[in-house]
Amino acid sequence: MCGIFAVVNDKTNNAAQTVLTGLKKLEYRGYDSWGIAIKPTDATSLQVDKHIGKIGEAETVLPEGKIAIGHTRWATHGGVTNNNAHPHLDCTGKLAVIHNGIVENYLEFKEELLKKGHKFSSETDTEVIAHLVEEKIKKQNLARAIFETFNSLVGSNAIGVIDFVSETIVACRNGSPLVVGVDEKNQQYFLGSDVPAFLQYTNKVHFLDDGEGVVLSKNNVKLFDLKTGQEKELKLQQLDWKLEDAEKAGYPHFLLKEINEQKQTILKTSLINKKEIEKIAGMIKKDYKIILTGCGTASYCALAGKYFLADAKIESQAYGAYEFSPFTKFCDDKTIVLGISQSGETADTLIALRLAKKQGAHIVAVVNARGSTMERLADTVIPVGAGPEIAVVTTKAFTSQLTVLYLLSQAVKNNYEEGQKQVKKLSEILYQWFNTNLEEKIVNLAKSLLNQEHIYLIGKHLNYPATLEFALKLKEASYLHAEPFAAGELKHGVITLIQKGTPCFVLASNDDIKGEILSSAAELKARGGRIIGIAPFDSTEFDEIIKTPDLADLTIFANIIVGQLLGYYLGVGRGADPDKPRNLAKSVTVK
Ligand code: F6R
Repeated sequence: MCGIFAVVNDKTNNAAQTVLTGLKKLEYRGYDSWGIAIKPTDATSLQVDKHIGKIGEAETVLPEGKIAIGHTRWATHGGVTNNNAHPHLDCTGKLAVIHNGIVENYLEFKEELLKKGHKFSSETDTEVIAHLVEEKIKKQNLARAIFETFNSLVGSNAIGVIDFVSETIVACRNGSPLVVGVDEKNQQYFLGSDVPAFLQYTNKVHFLDDGEGVVLSKNNVKLFDLKTGQEKELKLQQLDWKLEDAEKAGYPHFLLKEINEQKQTILKTSLINKKEIEKIAGMIKKDYKIILTGCGTASYCALAGKYFLADAKIESQAYGAYEFSPFTKFCDDKTIVLGISQSGETADTLIALRLAKKQGAHIVAVVNARGSTMERLADTVIPVGAGPEIAVVTTKAFTSQLTVLYLLSQAVKNNYEEGQKQVKKLSEILYQWFNTNLEEKIVNLAKSLLNQEHIYLIGKHLNYPATLEFALKLKEASYLHAEPFAAGELKHGVITLIQKGTPCFVLASNDDIKGEILSSAAELKARGGRIIGIAPFDSTEFDEIIKTPDLADLTIFANIIVGQLLGYYLGVGRGADPDKPRNLAKSVTVK
């Protein structure tokens, strides 16, 4: 939530433009407002440019300069106004702060600062940071003043501060992501909430750990321990991400690009992590209890994992991480808790994992983003390797996580290689399937649903989590009310919602329960529902069908992809921005 970007020693001498370009890559982290602060080449104070709304094709009129910071906001404290947009200045106009997180104790500070005569121009928690540093800098050097201020903040936070006088940027991390990028060739340095923001300049990075601070100046980057103030060695790693990974590559939206990438990403995921997956499978076979958890889509992935494991004769639990805490007391050193996350920064998931870890559980992170908090917290990391996911609506990270869980269940059955073969087949068939008139069919279906108010969906067993995910894609990307149910739930109340013409999706696979799901479809049809089958077989119960490839348990991948594409085209048709749905942010780093 919220995106941070900064550059020092910008080689184009147009740091504001560099920051604007970087913020456009980070906009998926929040798009309520954006802003930039620069030290112009010849000026007596910082200059700030702030706007509400999405960056889109925005331009900035800020003058030339070599050092600037910028921010894209997902509002927490204070409404979506120009004044509340970051960066926030101190009273002197020589310091400006950008921030990702929540300062839980900001009101106490604000009261004290007001008494000391500080003038506030926003309602944000962030602004107190600027004034606190302004106070502390009277008695000590900049870095120390910022570190001390940061250490006094309660909550999960990351900040960046630009100082006019020393021409440096100081940043600190505790719980919210921050990464430094070093372009050694051009001696320019970057700071970002995520790597794609500066990937066009460098892939040499240092992911800040909690309790670390950095000082970026025109000559170097220095890393510090925030508590002791001692300098530490900056260890750079070179990522294998390429610039194309963070670009649209000719697609109109990242969402469509990422949906299409799944043909490759699923296969890629199946070729890595064998050692880790077999290690966890070995623990499961030694009677470790297994719990799967995550939020949103990741929680549906956890639920699908529960069905995969049941097929391998393993009982497991799946929880939405936000509901896990009452049950963490049942974890012990014979429990594996598998956290699933694209970002590795989701606050609720991290909280659940920390609680389980305290109980002695072995934490496994099935995570896509690199250098995340979840990765550091975990005892075993399974990086799913789907590459940067920019669209807020998750797609390829999810199917890669699902691939890991499928392979885990296969490993438990001593069937890992066969599982890999099945994933390879899935990937090949997806290539062929995408090359048919699939998208055309989905566009036509989307057109016929554009003006609907309610859509209902049913699925059973593995197709139940698939239905939950399918419905979420429709809701997120198009704002249509799509309500998913377990097919068995219908007769217990839900069926009252069905009227003549109500669109009802029925997700199914060619398995031994397809008769049961078709009976549920018949019940909906009998009440006048318009039955749209998402399945690898025809049935007279379906009024329409989007046929998916018959891939046994892996059919759900294709069924879900129909939901992703339909969500996308409905979103476009209904005037939503599929890459940046309203009110959402890509990483939910607050509770
Ligand atoms: C749905 C979506 C969210 C995330 C959820 C967890 O498209 O993106 O539901 O799945 O916020 O995020 P991560 O996976 O980053 O933990």
